[in-house]
Amino acid sequence: MKIAIFGGRGSGEDAAQSVARIAAGGTAFEVAGYLNDMLAPGTPLLGGRVLCRFEEWMTLKEDIRFVAPLHKAGHMQARVARIEGLGVPRERWAAVLDPNAAIASSAKIGGGAVLGPFAVVGPGTTLGMHTVVRAQAQVSHDVTLGDFVFVGGGSVVSGYCKLHAGAYVGPGAVLRDSITVGRFAVVGVGAVVVADVPDFAVVAGNPARLLSQDK
Ligand SMILES: CC(C)(COP(=O)(O)OP(=O)(O)OC[C@H]1O[C@@H](n2cnc3c(N)ncnc32)[C@H](O)[C@@H]1OP(=O)(O)O)[C@@H](O)C(=O)NCCC(=O)NCCS
Repeated sequence: MKIAIFGGRGSGEDAAQSVARIAAGGTAFEVAGYLNDMLAPGTPLLGGRVLCRFEEWMTLKEDIRFVAPLHKAGHMQARVARIEGLGVPRERWAAVLDPNAAIASSAKIGGGAVLGPFAVVGPGTTLGMHTVVRAQAQVSHDVTLGDFVFVGGGSVVSGYCKLHAGAYVGPGAVLRDSITVGRFAVVGVGAVVVADVPDFAVVAGNPARLLSQDK
């Protein structure tokens, strides 16, 4: 399978590294290149090259599938609108699951998801479309991650937590079991979350406290 990556440095590079590791294990998987609005087509990028601008995805061959790991704290509403506005058909989004991730057989993972090395995804867990679980994060049993949720490196999302669409968990955060994190909420780096987080809220610290709640 050929994968084209929306973006570049950061999560895009991580996804490309996972694709390379999958290919090294003998599965036919390769990065076709990058879609990028800042760099001209043909520009070398991360061992590949820029193919086209975001809007030009439909000029690429139909066998090419996509991921768009463009998650950024505080920017998720705009980025979700941008990605959804491209009109890429659901079936063209691929999931890139690092071969070193430990994924329970009962986990359900949506298209466009990117799981980093040593990420752990527990049984009974559902990951929506375009979810990102970075390296060494643990998404425990019976967790539900909505579309476009980001779980930062080394963070822990305990059992029965529910994170709604566009929620963002910074690296090293820990969520107590059965916590709900609202739509487009942000959990700061290293936070310890012991109470539900409302939609659009920004929380941080141990125990996490509300910093803001703007739409
Ligand atoms: C939580 C976060 C969004 C807050 O950013 P912000 O709204 O710009 O907040 P500020 O930096 O102005 O800080 C506001 C207050 O919260 C505190 N604070 C901010 N982030 C904190 C954190 N992670 N833990 C504890 N306290 C934190 C600040 O010390 C400050 O306290 P004060 O008012 O007593 O001085 C940000 O700190 C964060 O963690 N972003 C995630 C970044 C990330 O995920 N990076 C990795 C990408 S892979």
